[in-house]
Amino acid sequence: MDGTTRPPDPGGLPVLGNVRELASDALGFYERRSGHGGVVRYDVFGTESYLVSDPEAIRRVLVADHDRFVKGEMPREQLGGLLGDGLFLAEGEAWREQRAAIRSAFFRERVAAYGDSMVERARATAESWEDGAVVDAHAASTEYAFVVLAESLLGTDIERERETVREAAEAITERFDMRRPTSFLPEWLPTPTNRRYRRRLDALREAIRGVVADRRAVDPPTDPAAADDLLGTLVAAAELGALDDDELVDNAVTFLFAGHETSALGLTYALYCLADTPDFQARVHAEAAALDGDPTPADLRECPLLTAAVDEALRSYPPVHSFFREPTEPVSLDGYRVPAGVVLTLSPWAVHRDGRWWDDPETYRPERWLRDVEGGIAHGDDRPGPAIGERPEYAYFPFGGGPRHCIGMRFARQELRLAVATLLRRVRLEPVTTDLSLRASANTRPDGPVRVRAFSRDEPLDDRDPFTKVDE
Ligand code: HEM
Repeated sequence: MDGTTRPPDPGGLPVLGNVRELASDALGFYERRSGHGGVVRYDVFGTESYLVSDPEAIRRVLVADHDRFVKGEMPREQLGGLLGDGLFLAEGEAWREQRAAIRSAFFRERVAAYGDSMVERARATAESWEDGAVVDAHAASTEYAFVVLAESLLGTDIERERETVREAAEAITERFDMRRPTSFLPEWLPTPTNRRYRRRLDALREAIRGVVADRRAVDPPTDPAAADDLLGTLVAAAELGALDDDELVDNAVTFLFAGHETSALGLTYALYCLADTPDFQARVHAEAAALDGDPTPADLRECPLLTAAVDEALRSYPPVHSFFREPTEPVSLDGYRVPAGVVLTLSPWAVHRDGRWWDDPETYRPERWLRDVEGGIAHGDDRPGPAIGERPEYAYFPFGGGPRHCIGMRFARQELRLAVATLLRRVRLEPVTTDLSLRASANTRPDGPVRVRAFSRDEPLDDRDPFTKVDE
């Protein structure tokens, strides 16, 4: 191919395009389509779309040629009412200014300072579980991730708006549930779901406006880098004129949603996977138990097994199953010509499950991230699958890549590891839900409770009555 051929189009229905296939199983659709080539066409209600699953083409879009792509119309049509002109959707100079103003909230030392809250909340979660109880890992992780985010990034004020946030989150999940074909339509169409979504979003924005106003009223910080939390950084950036009042609220909402459900899902899948692999769970427990007390962010460098457990959960079940770009000019990708203005879909889900890059991709196997080194084991290799270095860099991209990679990546990786280590020091998990069923909304969500049974580590586990009733 010489860069003038159009990508293959395995076909869809006139008008509807591939909506039906996407609605019945979006994750399977992405997986199947990626089997047709590195760049493959599909259509959604007449919108020309391309699934890009060749890792080198993904690297070009996100990193090497990033300035030839924007987030584009589609994410804005879908998410504009929620995220406004916040960091996630902003483009060009406005995005650059915001990212520069906000980045200090995610510097290493600032993120490390959130560690205490991450550990303390995980400890409280473990302590709330009775020995042998069946718990819904998804519900527990959602509660956990919300409180951690509220405490460390947005200040405790947001906790009083818990119910408003929960209702908005519910409306968002319904709005973006890809099983409903109308979820592919813009939010301004007055469907009942869209109306409910709008109402709850307005309530949320009102609540956030109140939280922001309270913070501004009391001694507003003026140096973004010196603020105690993200809200302080945002308020300081607004005081300096780097954000206007609407952008300030847009960003508070953006961070609440970009940072809450994604981390909750990452933790849910890590706990589910570890419950299902008792041998590896025992090794992670041994690593965490050998620490001098509950983990600190600095300890994480010495925890290759824990890190592998989390990285592999994010490979197996990437919380963000796909995200989008739009070329601003015709581009050549994987040898094909792709026109300007179309939707490009980049899907961690499809690429993480591609047998060309991953041995036995459907199996959760954290060992693939480990290698033996003199005196022990280290994180950073994949055996017996292709080794890091042999595998293209963008065969794994749960946090996106390039200048617009997830600004919360360090926060999330620290949070997930601290939570897993703190929990596993106290409980041993056994699977109850054994057949995880997923559905694609804006994120990769479980289709129901994800049950695990938690046995307290304080109890002599061998004396346990093996016939205890499952209290589901
Ligand atoms: C496991 C947890 C997480 C995952 C899997 C995840 C994934 C992602 C991905 C794939 C992107 C890139 C989207 C794109 O390029 O279109 C992204 C961007 C973003 N994420 Fe995360 N994220 C996580 C946690 C967080 C947290 C904890 C926060 C904040 C506290 C956060 C805030 C953001 C923001 C603001 C952006 C937009 C950045 C920009 O465009 O400059 N995320 N995330």
